[in-house]
Parts: sequence; C-alpha cells; structure tokens
Amino acid sequence: MNDQQQAAAEQMIFPVPEDFAKAAKCDKARYEEMYRRSVSDPDGFWGEHGKRLDWFSPYKTVKNTSFENDVSIKWFEDGTLNASYNCIDRHLPEKANDVALIWEGDNPAYHYSITYQQLYIHVCRFANVLKKMGVKKGDRVTLYMPMIVETAYAMLACARIGAVHSIVFGGFSAEALAGRINDCKSEWAITCDEGVRAGKSVPLKANLDKAAEHCPGLKGVLVVRHTGGAVGWVEGRDIWYHDAALDVSSACEPEVMNAEDPLFILYTSGSTGQPKGVLHTTGGYLVWASMTHEYVFDYRPGEVYWCAADVGWVTGHSYIIYGPLANGATSLMFEGVPTYPDVDRFWRVIAKHKVNTFYTAPTALRALMREGDEPVARHDLSSLRILGSVGEPINPEAWLWYHRVVGKERCPIVDTWWQTETGGMMITPLPGAMDLKPGSATKPFFGVQTALVSNEGDIIEGAGEGNLVITDSWPGQARTVYGDHDRFIQTYFSTYKGLYFTGDGCRRDEDGYYWITGRVDDVINVSGHRMGTAEVESALVAHQLVAEAAVVGFPHDVKGQGIYCYVTLNAGLEPTDNLAKELRLWVRTEIGPIATPDHIHFTPALPKTRSGKIMRRILRKIAENEFGNLGDTSTLADPSVVDSLIEGRKVR
Ligand code: WT7
Repeated sequence: MNDQQQAAAEQMIFPVPEDFAKAAKCDKARYEEMYRRSVSDPDGFWGEHGKRLDWFSPYKTVKNTSFENDVSIKWFEDGTLNASYNCIDRHLPEKANDVALIWEGDNPAYHYSITYQQLYIHVCRFANVLKKMGVKKGDRVTLYMPMIVETAYAMLACARIGAVHSIVFGGFSAEALAGRINDCKSEWAITCDEGVRAGKSVPLKANLDKAAEHCPGLKGVLVVRHTGGAVGWVEGRDIWYHDAALDVSSACEPEVMNAEDPLFILYTSGSTGQPKGVLHTTGGYLVWASMTHEYVFDYRPGEVYWCAADVGWVTGHSYIIYGPLANGATSLMFEGVPTYPDVDRFWRVIAKHKVNTFYTAPTALRALMREGDEPVARHDLSSLRILGSVGEPINPEAWLWYHRVVGKERCPIVDTWWQTETGGMMITPLPGAMDLKPGSATKPFFGVQTALVSNEGDIIEGAGEGNLVITDSWPGQARTVYGDHDRFIQTYFSTYKGLYFTGDGCRRDEDGYYWITGRVDDVINVSGHRMGTAEVESALVAHQLVAEAAVVGFPHDVKGQGIYCYVTLNAGLEPTDNLAKELRLWVRTEIGPIATPDHIHFTPALPKTRSGKIMRRILRKIAENEFGNLGDTSTLADPSVVDSLIEGRKVR
C-alpha cells in the first residue's frame, strides 16, 4: 500500500453489523451512557461492577487514588477475595464439566481439554506442592515456563496461596532471567525440562541452571516434565513436580487476600535502565481483566476463545488466564508458532476447535498475509465471530486483510490499545457499539479518561495530535514498580505532573477516535515485543571490543520495527562482517532471540552535541533512510559525522 492508499483506507468506516448490534452486550447508546457514568461517578460505577467477582468480605471503599506527589492507587481496599477462587471454585456449581482450557500442542497431533473440575484439582495439587516446598504468602515465585497447561496451574496455584508470580518469557536468556530473579528477590522458581516451538526444543531448565549461578538467593526449583529431555540436576534444590505431587491432597483452601495484596510482577522495558517489575494487585486487576474480556470480546457463555499470545507477556496473563477464566470461559492455549508445521497453522487450529474469538498481534498477521489467501481458504472459519488485534499499531493493509480474508467481512475487529502497566485494554472498540476505522483503536473503555498533551504539557482539545496521557486512575492500573516506588513516580507521573504518561504518541480525529502513532520515548516495538533501546545498548557495550553503541528502531515490513545498532569499536579495530555477526549473536545470548539486531552499522563516531549527548533524532532519521530532513545539526560537536553516517547507510 502506498501512502495515498493508506490515507484512503483510514477514511473507511465499517459500521456495526446490524444483527451484531441487536445481540451485543453493549450497543452505541449503552456505551455512551455507561462511559459517562463511569467517569462522572466512578465510585458508583465500579462499586457496582466490582460485584462481578466473588468477594469473601465485601468492600466499602471503592476508589482511593491520587496521581499527585507520592502517587497512591487503591481500589476496593477493604475487600477480600482470592483470584484463583474467582477463576475456578465459583464456577464449579454450574460449570464443573465445562472446558476451561483447550491445549493445542506444537505438534498438531497433541491436544486435550481440561474442565473446570479438573482445573480445580490440578491447581489445588500444584498449590499443595508449593506449600510443601515452603512457599509462603507474599513470596515471589519466578516462572520460566512454556505454553503448557502446567503454567496456568502454577499461576493459579501461586494466586491460591497468596504467592506473587513473576513470569519471565521463555524466549529470554539466562542473563535476563537471572536479573529478574534477583530484582524481586525470588527464592523460588518453576520451570520445565524443555519447551517446544516449531519442532525444536528450548532448553528451559538448562537456561535456568545457568541463571541460577548468579542467583544466590534461589532456594528451590520445581521442574515440570514436558518433553522428557535430559536435564542437569542440583540435589537439594531441584524437585520434580510429578514426584512432589504424588502424595498431596486434591483440595487446597484459597488464601484470603486483600484487594490490594500483590497478584503478580511482570518485568517490562522502559526508556532507561534495566526492565522494571510492574506490580499488579488482586481486586482491581481481576475486575479489569474480566470486565474488558467480557465487553470487548462480547463474550457469551459456551464460546471458544483463543488469544494467541504467550503467557510470558501481559496479554497472556490478562487474556489467556485471568480474564477468561474469571468469566468461566473456554480459553485455548497454543504451544506452537503460526508457521509450523505449515503457514496455515492458525487457521487449522481455528477450524479444528471451532474458535469463536481470535486475538493476535499485527506482526503475525503481516507475516501470514505474505503467504496469500490460499492457506486461509483451506479451512472452514465460519465459527469466527470476533477478531482482535494487540501489541502495536495495526496498519490498514493488515487490518483490511484480516477483515476480508480471515473474517469474511462478517467479524468486527477489535484493535485494543493497552500496556503492561494498564493491566488490560484501555482504548478499544466494543464490537456492538463502535463503527470501525482500519488502524484506529477507536474509543476509551469505561473509566478510562484519555487526554492528549503537547510537549509543553498543554492539554489539546478536540481533533489533534500529541502525547497520550490518562488523567485519572482505573482499577486495572499497576500500583508500583516492585521495590522502587520512586521509579514508578519518575517514569509515569513526572513528565506531566498529575497525569499518567503512556509513552505513546496519538492522534484524535473529528469523531473522537484515537489513532496510536507509536512510542515517543526510547522504547521500540519489535514484533509486538516491547524493548528498551538502552537495554540493547548496554548489552552491546558489555562486549569487550565495543567502545560505544546507540540503538534505534526503523520501520520493518513484518516486525513493525527492526533494531538498528550504531557501534563504535575500540581504537585501532577494523570492522568486519564476522564481527557484525558476532555482535548480533552476542546480543541474542545476552537478552534473547527477540532482541537480535537487524543491522549493525559500524561508525568511527556517533553524532554528539558539544556537551556529549548523542543526538538520537539524527540516528533515527538515518536508520529510516530519511536523509533530507535531519533537522538542526548545528549543535553537533562534529557535523561531518553525519555525512559519513549517511554514506554508511547508503551502502546497506
Ligand atoms: C505498548 C505496550 C498491550 C499488551 C501487549 C503489549 C503498543 C499495544 C497497541 C495497539 C498501537 C499498541 C504501545 C504501548 N501497543 N497495543 N492496539 N495499537 N500500539 O504490552 O509490552 O506493555 O507494550 O505497545 O506502544 O505503549 P507492552
């Protein structure tokens, strides 16, 4: 699509299908009315909707939040509940034999279903094993797990006994894992022998063993057997799950948790420093995850719902596990990748399990779109009712393909904007209430008070473009950065005082629709994975031959953004292709495969101001191949650096 076609696509409007509006949970009028109440009377609105959960003792106070000074966020603060109880036990009277999880293996021959009754037994047993190991309420437990049902059991078991899980995506390296274990002082870890992706095994236990060498505080490692592959063993530290589970009870009373007790930590990247442990608590988070899941997917009992994310990311937390299970839904968990054994795998799985709702990332759609329509047409996708998108802006071309080829022009697409820190969806269509525009996340969910501000901090009214902020708290909001509340305040509430700054740029059109334009900070989005350029830089400079590095994103057809690294070698060293290869591999082992650089651009010097600050704006433009409009370069200490960088870019 050229720019003109893209602009034309953005003008298109796809009205709510009529039959849809009639049957949907929420139509236009109801959205307006509910939204208005949610922001004018948050106590009344959330006091009512908080009741969607089962509380052991009900809350009296609903909202107690401040974005000023020390920033304090509390919702339902005097209520008690348990997340695992809400995701399992309360469904048993009516849904014991309904399917809670469908597991589809990497190998298409492997699949099975777990009912709510079975889920109850598995989670209770898992919880009892954790207790037997010595895990206590409030302890942090690191999960380094693949997409298997035991990961769901482990999460819910932690929640059941009041332990705080911290999941580290299985694609992260041993180094990255060690940093996260140490940061939250996790004494316990859960892993499995190996993961499997596209027929290849991923050595999770071996990586964890390597990480553990740098984690003196780690006391116990629970190991789930998945592939049966050989693993190393540390006596006294490692425990096989299947051994430990032999003699535990199949019942475990859920711990009574306060609404503001931590539920999980999830590490995410920012523009500076190492990843931070975003902390979510129990009550508000679960209200948010379950309510957004129900309204945004217009969820109806009995439907099969599939979120194709990994549980290692927040999308998996909120929309594979907590949201759908709190709603008693059937949630599909897929171990594999979209292109194995063939490029039709997604469509094969949808047809096989008669999936009604499918939720994935634009990067996957762009990759599959390249394979043409035929792999989709091979399968009967008539079960589909709603399609979702998440993780990065969806380009109109991918949107239109998703709508026409996958959804057969019948299925509304919900393009959901949110973040690890928001706990759940924030700006998103409700399928029965919003006409859709390809590329727009449309309008805020209930209780979300969005605003655009200029770089100077002035609020922009009406149509316009600026930095996206949220002006007041919502129940799903992260409460702090684990162990560092100052960093929480600094990162999110200091750029614009009293406002939550998202880090995203955004445009609002004449109809009040929001169009996310991407990050305005030094965070890049690679295949829907969020990455701090600072992390890649510190990995590069940790290499003994590298003197300096600056990393920026650049537009990439499939990944959305690619990773472009400017590298200065130590004095006297000559750049070679082999060294470039070595550095790519180096970053890969330091952080993980998702951080593998696309380009290494060796340069004798980086463009710096006279005070020594790297001018990233220029580096971004050069990486984007935009040499014509580099802006003001007069403050550079040595303007000739720019010409040599442009020369270096052109030969690529
Ligand atoms: C960043 C958050 C949302 C859960 C998965 C990612 C970008 C996310 C969209 C969307 C445009 C989006 C933003 C955001 N993003 N969804 N629908 N349209 N951009 O969570 O890793 O915390 O990343 O992803 O830039 O800030 P995350």
